[in-house]
Amino acid sequence: MALFNRQKEISLKDIELPEHIGIIMDGNGRWAKKRGLPRTAGHTAGAQTFRRIARYCSDIGIKYLTVYAFSTENWKRPKEEVDAIMKLFKEYMLEAISDFQDDSIVVKFIGDRSVFSDDMLQLIEKNENDSKDRDGMVLNIAMNYGGRDEIVHAVKKIAQNVKDDKLSVSDINAQLISENIYTASQPDPDLIIRPSGEYRTSNFLLWQSAYSEYCIMDVLWPDFKSEHLDKALIEYAKRNRRFGGI
Ligand code: IPE
Ligand code: IPE
Ligand code: MG
Repeated sequence: MALFNRQKEISLKDIELPEHIGIIMDGNGRWAKKRGLPRTAGHTAGAQTFRRIARYCSDIGIKYLTVYAFSTENWKRPKEEVDAIMKLFKEYMLEAISDFQDDSIVVKFIGDRSVFSDDMLQLIEKNENDSKDRDGMVLNIAMNYGGRDEIVHAVKKIAQNVKDDKLSVSDINAQLISENIYTASQPDPDLIIRPSGEYRTSNFLLWQSAYSEYCIMDVLWPDFKSEHLDKALIEYAKRNRRFGGI
């Protein structure tokens, strides 16, 4: 085991790691169904996987991790399922405040937070404020996040500035849009991992993923282990990123 670990360390040290990883945490429902359990049990198991993988990414030196936890389209699900997911967020946020006092992880929330209740908003803000001066990995939790919604918000902000004569139309460029989306000042994701085998973005980081490498993995999120992440990292290191060049 020790030898295996040492070998793994060496192999991860030898490759170029992505600076920013995105993960679409998908497959909780199917995982539960396979076991004859309610979908909510899949979300509970998925939340545990999230804790382990976030810690692992921080341990191996990833600088930014963005996890897709709840999309702007996920409200379509039965109320019971949505409520169970919101309860899990709350539990995580309370835990993050009390247990991670000495942690180095910077926690941020991306998405439209205007729909959240006051107590949820307070927890979000407390997590962000308490962790903002830390020097470790930035963990973006995408909650009520939609890539299109994010772009609409940015366009509205920019349009208001033009209307107020703070900007002119000729100032609008890709850089300005990047500065007005939720991930402003962060690098774009280098690698996006989607467990559960689905070949689609489902509205995740649409603007930021223009040149991200995708790794679709045939494992359901609750079964996702650090070994799966290693596999994605090794796969990523073999990719030839050209960004439109040759
Ligand atoms: C991802 O798992 C979690 C959320 C979307 C909140 P799913 O609940 O989508 O699981 P599947 O895709 O139905 O298996
Ligand atoms: C994407 O998964 C959203 C999250 C993982 C939070 P979905 O399960 O909602 O995506 P679709 O419906 O399969 O495209
Ligand atoms: Mg799904």
